Amino acid sequence: MKLSVILSSLFLVLVSGRIYWHRSRNADPMFSPRWDKLAVTWLRWEPLPLTVNDAVKKGWRLQDDYQEIPYFSGNRYVRRRDKTVMLLFDEDNRVLGLQTGIPKSNVEFKPLPWVKENDSFILTAYFRQPRTSKEYLSPSPSKNIGDQLLILNSSTSTEKLIQIPTKESELVGSGWTEGQCFYTMGKLYWYDLSNVSDCNSLLPVFLIYTNEVLNGFGWILPYKIDNARFVHYLFRNDTIPNCFWNTSHLSLMHVFLDSHPVMNLC
Ligand SMILES: *[C@@H]1O[C@H](CO)[C@@H](O)[C@H](O)[C@H]1NC(C)=O
Ligand SMILES: *[C@@H]1O[C@H](CO)[C@@H](O)[C@H](O)[C@H]1NC(C)=O
Ligand SMILES: *[C@@H]1O[C@H](CO)[C@@H](O)[C@H](O)[C@H]1NC(C)=O
Ligand SMILES: *[C@@H]1O[C@H](CO)[C@@H](O)[C@H](O)[C@H]1NC(C)=O
Ligand SMILES: *[C@@H]1O[C@H](CO)[C@@H](O)[C@H](O)[C@H]1NC(C)=O
Repeated sequence: MKLSVILSSLFLVLVSGRIYWHRSRNADPMFSPRWDKLAVTWLRWEPLPLTVNDAVKKGWRLQDDYQEIPYFSGNRYVRRRDKTVMLLFDEDNRVLGLQTGIPKSNVEFKPLPWVKENDSFILTAYFRQPRTSKEYLSPSPSKNIGDQLLILNSSTSTEKLIQIPTKESELVGSGWTEGQCFYTMGKLYWYDLSNVSDCNSLLPVFLIYTNEVLNGFGWILPYKIDNARFVHYLFRNDTIPNCFWNTSHLSLMHVFLDSHPVMNLC
């Protein structure tokens, strides 16, 4: 009797502690997300720079600037020629988005949102509305990364974007299907599960929600990509597009948008 009271109080403390923890840092479903860190790869959490200053200090180099390549916005920085993460910075030198490129030789023909560039296929994500020819959106003075996730879905225009809902509640009735939740990862969502028969035509994006707020996403690719930023396994019972159970190769890269992803509890 006494033990059960103690246990249930402990449970209540843990549950409200977890909610308090998430709300206090970044993930309160009442507000837009307050993302503050950028890191890639589950269990490695490689931190990525948020400003050009920091990027240059850490060995990132400007590869292309705003005007050179018309399909995306931002100044593109790359580190050690590794195209698996290319960072986009705005004219105020703050991070605007992230691109992932994989060698063309790895893949078959890829539909949008993949964009072919030289000898690579590229995916592009923005953390806020990129600059367009029509308007210049000056960034808010806060240090945040941004509070939107937009996936570029055009090879010619910077303006065709897939807007990802930042609140889990907005996914109801959408093309996104709830998957499993994993400690240190969060709850995963997959796109258009029932309609995917061929992994090559799939939207290669999955989403991560913690405390009902978007705080990460990732790429899921039916190829073996030999790069430490990718992981190559799935969990036995995850709800993923069926075609993945039959692909011989699989690579996932997780992108975390706030600090302490290890505290992405379920
Ligand atoms: C493609 O080639 C152009 C011209 O050399 C270069 O500026 C650009 O960075 C290259 N793109 C990638 C993804 O390497
Ligand atoms: C991306 O654009 C293509 C071509 O316009 C379209 O068929 C597809 O539905 C778009 N993808 C998403 C997820 O909106
Ligand atoms: C999946 O296919 C069904 C039937 O063709 C269609 O109604 C539905 O909109 C599709 N889902 C998405 C997310 O495109
Ligand atoms: C996996 O899913 C099946 C069917 O939904 C269920 O019966 C089984 O208990 C699950 N296994 C685990 C380890 O979650
Ligand atoms: C995967 O392979 C199994 C057995 O080879 C087959 O029964 C199943 O239909 C395949 N699933 C898909 C989605 O191709």
